[in-house]
Amino acid sequence: MALYDPFGRSINYLRLSVTDRCNLRCIYCMPAAGVHAIKHADVLSFEELLTVSRAAVAIGVEKIRVTGGEPLVRKGIIPFLAELATTPGLKRLVLTTNGILLPEMAAELRCAGVESLNISLDSLQPDTFDSITRGGNILKVFEGIKAAEEAGFKRIKINMVVIRGVNDHEVADFAALTLKRPYHVRFIEYMPTLRDDSWKARTISGSEILGKLALRYSLQAESKAAMDGPASYYRIAGAAGRVGVITPVSCHFCNECNRIRVTSTGIAKSCLFATETHDLKPYIHAGDDQALRDALRYVVTTKPEHHAIEERAQRNMTMPMSQVGG
Ligand code: GTP
Ligand code: 5AD
Ligand code: SF4
Repeated sequence: MALYDPFGRSINYLRLSVTDRCNLRCIYCMPAAGVHAIKHADVLSFEELLTVSRAAVAIGVEKIRVTGGEPLVRKGIIPFLAELATTPGLKRLVLTTNGILLPEMAAELRCAGVESLNISLDSLQPDTFDSITRGGNILKVFEGIKAAEEAGFKRIKINMVVIRGVNDHEVADFAALTLKRPYHVRFIEYMPTLRDDSWKARTISGSEILGKLALRYSLQAESKAAMDGPASYYRIAGAAGRVGVITPVSCHFCNECNRIRVTSTGIAKSCLFATETHDLKPYIHAGDDQALRDALRYVVTTKPEHHAIEERAQRNMTMPMSQVGG
């Protein structure tokens, strides 16, 4: 069954946040003072998350990306993923993680049926990583990437949020990771997700990032596969992997957007920057699958043609990424 929004976009991808908690506190994601953790009682149980996922698949979703916060900090995540993976009609189950817990969890994730991993890594230098994540141990992420490869994950995407004056001198070093390994290294424009103006000085456009790469490498544009996300891809001649740029700020990719989001508290959003939210809990709690499917279909009908990222930032209407799921 195909699901279309009012602008003719096929919606086949759900980003499901399973927790707002995280074992890191990245500077672009959380204010220095931290964010209020959501009360346990407000967080959907795994059974409820399965109910939402099944309803989404029943109306046309084919790919689910599990996100957080950090999804691997939620207790019981592995059996949940194993159950989710068996959903009839679900073609791809994938996960975004900061990699800290991968050394001990990569093999279990693979066994549970997770097809591929997106791993956030914003610096290759221990000190810079420590300051971006406010205390994270980079060695865990390096070990985690290795563990993921050993567990048999074929497609590993590494997400680097490029932050002017902080890690932008490292983009060519990140691109070099693709020379020998089949990683997809994606450079992401810093988005305004905190309630301040800090993003203006920090965002570096995709074209400036590509300019920095071009100083060291010549890049060949690559085509996208079906259900691929927002990145535009390039390859350094002869490289095993590829590099990508994700440009939500300078050049939004809304015309090809295929996704909706559900937070760990059962709030559906038709767009990362949508102002309208839809509470699915009443339908979940009532056990009314038909009403839940209708509610999700309604969410799709409210999908804006494109996001209004700058306007939302100006009006201080952003929601912490750890709550909305990146
Ligand atoms: P795949 O293509 O499935 O790998 O997904 P992805 O690249 O969208 O997932 P990932 O979780 O790795 O997110 C990469 C970056 O894209 C993050 O910075 C996300 O916040 C951003 N992103 C993902 N979806 C959207 C979206 O719908 N709108 C905007 N503006 N940014 C998004
Ligand atoms: N701008 C760009 N990317 C962000 N992420 C989180 N916050 C931001 C932001 N403000 C990224 C994380 C992770 C992905 C899910 O979202 O680094 O890779
Ligand atoms: Fe945690 Fe991801 Fe936010 Fe960093 S960006 S604090 S890893 S949820």
